Amino acid sequence: MTESITFDDARPSARVARSEVRRALVKSFGCQMNIYDSQRIADLAALEGYAEAARVEDADLVVLNTCHIRERASEKIFSELGKLRELKDERRKAGKGVTLVVAGCVAQAEGAEILRRQPAVDVVVGPQSYHRLPYLLREAQVRSGVIDTEFPAEDKFSRLPPSSREAIARRGAVAFVAVQEGCDKFCSFCVVPYTRGAEVSRPVGAIVQEIERLAAGGVREVMLIGQNVNAYHGLDGDGRPVRLSGLIRAAAAVHGIRRVRYATSHPNDMGDDLIAAHRDVEALAPYLHLPVQSGSDRVLASMNRRHTVAGYLDIVTRARAARSDIALSSDFIVGYPGESDADFRATLDLAAKVHYASSYAFKYSPRPGTPAAEMEGQVGEAVKASRLAELQALLEQQRQAFNQASIGRRFDVLFEKPGRRDGQVIGRSPYMQSVFAEGPLAVVGAMAEVEIVAAGPYSLQGRIVSPASY
Ligand code: 5AD
Ligand code: SF4
Repeated sequence: MTESITFDDARPSARVARSEVRRALVKSFGCQMNIYDSQRIADLAALEGYAEAARVEDADLVVLNTCHIRERASEKIFSELGKLRELKDERRKAGKGVTLVVAGCVAQAEGAEILRRQPAVDVVVGPQSYHRLPYLLREAQVRSGVIDTEFPAEDKFSRLPPSSREAIARRGAVAFVAVQEGCDKFCSFCVVPYTRGAEVSRPVGAIVQEIERLAAGGVREVMLIGQNVNAYHGLDGDGRPVRLSGLIRAAAAVHGIRRVRYATSHPNDMGDDLIAAHRDVEALAPYLHLPVQSGSDRVLASMNRRHTVAGYLDIVTRARAARSDIALSSDFIVGYPGESDADFRATLDLAAKVHYASSYAFKYSPRPGTPAAEMEGQVGEAVKASRLAELQALLEQQRQAFNQASIGRRFDVLFEKPGRRDGQVIGRSPYMQSVFAEGPLAVVGAMAEVEIVAAGPYSLQGRIVSPASY
């Protein structure tokens, strides 16, 4: 790969014609924000003339967009990099180069350490500076080990190229839109404030423009995402701050958008206006992902969550009063430092009270640089494992009960892709459940009413009962 990479004058077709087609693969780990960032990195690569590679073996550029949230996620990256180094060595023998980029939260947290552990890496770029990737790739052609983990003053989002019509169409009817990034809450266990930086909200106009473009390309559902999405306070065209409830209304008003979701929320930012939006905005899905982490006030205080169990349950009550069918989901951490058996029982009690539709539970993983990693009372692995199994069994029962209760109901399902079997299509219910139905391929990308006829632990089976609408 000898062609110099330019950003400003990139005209992919002309550039591709000049050399053999180069291919890029962006592999995403971790959260929804990383999936969004990976798509934007793929957009940058496309503008640089890279076609998408289906397999890593075909790629001239490999970007790992990494997650640092738990130790296991981080360590996975180094084993991936080991395999990629072998691939790079093999390709070199065949006279071909591969450029390796580590992006995302591991890049931010570990920086130069990545190059020390794996010198085959060409570029390390953090989540706040990946818009500079074209320049960094050019830099990597003249020196090895380029690092950019700054938190630049410029607005990353305004520097990213918009997704092309083809990319939007390829990604399907559901799209993530980053509206807010970073976190000022500093929960004691969490790396996000360090890897993603301070809380920033994108302006309303830029977000609406992005959604309009997505809708014109066939997107019917947008998930507004942010590490602390309900703390959103972006400015409108008159410079006035708009809350998430206002942004949801603006997104729902975009022509073509049928459904709006948002994640992830913190209990302390769950204002009355957002709860009221669940009652008033028809396109807002009846689904609330509201992580509680623990059911013990003592543990919540030690986690610096700044909310109590009673406060959390009050939000759940108010959300259900606004929208009786709202589905709740949460994240839980078990084995946080100092968590006693009684604290853990309190978490089980809380889950039993709420009846979640679906949830995620994790063993506490000490993260370097976070206060909890230094705390006394670290819980042993065996206790963590048994608590996790017990909580997961309860959450699993709740998921199945929620799915069973769907039988006989009729939902609007947005179909996203063909199923594994011929003649089958797969979509999601308003409550995020996967729904399989018999139907023509033409319903992919459309919404149709579906009667649920059977329920499994992870999906529902339905029968389409209305014409599809686009
Ligand atoms: N250990 C275990 N789980 C964690 N999470 C965040 N940090 C940690 C950690 N150090 C979980 C929280 C959060 C979810 C995204 O990941 O439950 O809500
Ligand atoms: Fe992982 Fe959190 Fe970073 Fe997302 S924000 S990539 S979950 S560490």
